[in-house]
Amino acid sequence: MSSDIVLKVEDLHKSYGNIPVLKGISFEVRRGETKIICGPSGSGKSTLLRCLNLITKPDKGRIWLEGEEITDRNVNINKVRQRIGFVFQEFNLFNHLTALRNVSIGLEVVKKMDKNEARRIALEMLRKVGLEEHAHKYPAELSGGQKQRVAIARALAMNPAIIFYDEPTSALDPQLIGEVLEVMKALAREKVTSIVVTHEMGFAQSVGDEILFMYDGKIIEQGPPLQIIQNPKCEQTRRFFQRIHELYARENK
Ligand SMILES: Nc1ncnc2c1ncn2[C@@H]1O[C@H](COP(=O)(O)OP(=O)(O)O)[C@@H](O)[C@H]1O
Ligand SMILES: [Mg+2]
Repeated sequence: MSSDIVLKVEDLHKSYGNIPVLKGISFEVRRGETKIICGPSGSGKSTLLRCLNLITKPDKGRIWLEGEEITDRNVNINKVRQRIGFVFQEFNLFNHLTALRNVSIGLEVVKKMDKNEARRIALEMLRKVGLEEHAHKYPAELSGGQKQRVAIARALAMNPAIIFYDEPTSALDPQLIGEVLEVMKALAREKVTSIVVTHEMGFAQSVGDEILFMYDGKIIEQGPPLQIIQNPKCEQTRRFFQRIHELYARENK
């Protein structure tokens, strides 16, 4: 496999009970790429991300991370997860720890890094997301946008091979979305490899390398963002983006 490929997914399947949720997903992510995943609610986007970092065990199919097959049963799942950053819709910060500790704790506990070194890196990451002066605040003292930026700093600090973002701005008030997207855009431009589940079409068009459009457990269409958004081939894709467009038009009135 080309060393340029960070993640390769081949024919992934997952059912809950007898309900199939992923029905044969295949794609690749190259180093430095920002891959956008879109699709209606319930189409399997979150399940796909969870399968990719092995929080959920796929029923069938294979996954390679930097050339290593992580669906191999001898693989150390915890080691694999350390190489994948995950940013969730609901931030998932430790509320009893400061922003700085939220970022440094993984370095100390998981990477066994010396406390001072962990603190130095954590501060550097908080600076990167524009929150250095808030390092000693607790999550309750931060806005939703700031909390999400801490979560991004925490993912980055581990120096992962790839970062997954699962609808990172969906829980935010509209006026806080921009600051999070700006941080994500800056990282995309620095060529941090990522998969982003989002309905933010401006973001997809400015930094997305490709959109994968999911529908009912399958990728039914994929291609350059502009083409997929403005000139999709499938009727389902067209309807989806029409709907997103209408929602945004209403919100921006
Ligand atoms: N742990 C679970 N147990 C049973 N069904 C689930 C579970 N997680 C997700 N599902 C179902 O799988 C389908 C896809 O869900 P999900 O991956 O969350 O979609 P999306 O993120 O695209 O909205 C939905 O029908 C959902 O109800
Ligand atoms: Mg989801």
